[in-house]
Parts: sequence; C-alpha cells; structure tokens
Amino acid sequence: MTAKPIALQKLPVDLEQSRLPQHVAVIMDGNGRWAKRRGKPRIMGHQRGVDSLKDLLRCCKDWGVPALTAYAFSTENWGRPMEEVQFLMTLFERVLQRELNEMMAEDVRIRFVGNLSALPQSLQKQIEKSMKDTENNSSIQFTVATNYGGREEIIQACRAIASLVKEGSLQPEEINEAIFENHLYTQGIIHPDLLIRTSGEMRLSNFLLWQMAYAEIYVTQTLWPDFDRGEFHKALLAYQQRERRFGKV
Ligand code: IPE
Ligand code: IPE
Ligand code: MG
Repeated sequence: MTAKPIALQKLPVDLEQSRLPQHVAVIMDGNGRWAKRRGKPRIMGHQRGVDSLKDLLRCCKDWGVPALTAYAFSTENWGRPMEEVQFLMTLFERVLQRELNEMMAEDVRIRFVGNLSALPQSLQKQIEKSMKDTENNSSIQFTVATNYGGREEIIQACRAIASLVKEGSLQPEEINEAIFENHLYTQGIIHPDLLIRTSGEMRLSNFLLWQMAYAEIYVTQTLWPDFDRGEFHKALLAYQQRERRFGKV
C-alpha cells in the first residue's frame, strides 16, 4: 500500500465529526471492468481491490468511523467461472493470513457474515482463527460478507425461529423485530447508515436487505480498485448533506 500524505490521515476539515456515519457498508464493485480496461485478466482487478479495502479500513479508523462492512462474495457469485471463484477463495485465505498480525496491531475486530459452512475448509479455519484472535479488539468493527445473501440470511433466521416455535419455547405472536435481528448473521452489529457502491451500478445485489431499510445510498462511477480516501471523502460529504427523515416530516 502506498503511504498517504499526512493531511489525508486526519478527518478533512469540511466533515463534521459528530455527524459521521457510525457504520459504512460498501459494495466493492467494478474489479473486472478495471482490469479489462487495462487489458488484464479480471483477477488482477480483485487483487488490486484488496489494497482499496485495506486503505478504506485504515481510513475509517483514522477518521473515526467505528464500523465498516464490505461485500466480498455474494451467494450469486458462485455462478462465475470456476477459475475466478477459486481465485477469490484463495485470495481471501491468503489475505486473511497475511493481514492478521496487522489487524491485531491496529486493534481491528474482524467478523464474517454469510453462509460460511459452504466455503472451502481451509478458508473456514482461517476465518474462525481471525474472528477468535481479534474478538477483544475494539478500535474498529470490520465485517466481511462472504457467501452472503440477504435473502438466504432472512430464510435461515426464519428457520431458526420456526424451530423455537415448534419446540414450544417461543409463541408466534412473540416474534418481533428484535427477536428476528437476533437470528441474523449481523446480530449485535448496528445497521449501516451509509451504503457506498462503486462502478455506477444502482442496485443492492442482495446485500444486507433487512439492515439497510434506512441506509443512505451513495453510488460513484469510480471502479473499486480506484476507490481511495478522496473518493471516501466525497461520499461522506454527500452523506452529511442528506436529511434523514426515517418516515417522519
Ligand atoms: C466486484 O467486482 C468483486 C466481486 C463481486 C467479487 P466484479 O468482479 O463484480 O467486477 P465487474 O462488476 O465485473 O467489473
Ligand atoms: C455484488 O457485485 C457482489 C459483490 C461486490 C461481492 P456483483 O458484481 O456480483 O453484482 P451484480 O451481479 O452486478 O448485481
Ligand atoms: Mg460486478
């Protein structure tokens, strides 16, 4: 990762500390197009995308955004060519292994959300280790959505709740939003205030469907490997100009 000028390490003066989003979610899109424009294979884009994510995580910590969630692999992404899927799984494992020491040093707590049991065994082990090793870290909460699908998450919560009802420990009329949330992968993580999607696509692609009911959405044309602190600054400025009404007047 390239060293950043000192000025960028501090919260830009035109942003209000007290009105920063408490949780930013990001759909890291456009890696393939980034590579294609350079006449390179798609996987090069994914590789470069890791650097963007590392810097965004550090930037959130530097600027005082306490939670970041990144969409790394959707339940639909299994439909990509096998070589690309395999490359991504290996990349996740390698990066996780390589960055664990630094996450410890930087006091990052990492969590994974999604159907993790379908991931390669060795990746599952690395995920478990990183979550366990960093569980008491508290500078920033970093969540990675891997084999994540919002619909799948909702269905598995329904199944778990249905079992409780079946065994008699819960009555159907007792089911409420709080109980439902307790069965989501994101249990204990506050809802995102701001969703950033790169590469210009204006859709959710099955990301955090329940949790983003009231997230502010910011879309930039910038492709994910080119997303840097300057781009994040722009997203935060746009966010601070929004009026969040939550259905009120
Ligand atoms: C996002 O970039 C990364 C993943 C989905 C893993 P893409 O790979 O979707 O890049 P484009 O959208 O094809 O450019
Ligand atoms: C969303 O991007 C998933 C991730 C960034 C991991 P996609 O590239 O898979 O989304 P679509 O296919 O354009 O909706
Ligand atoms: Mg894409």
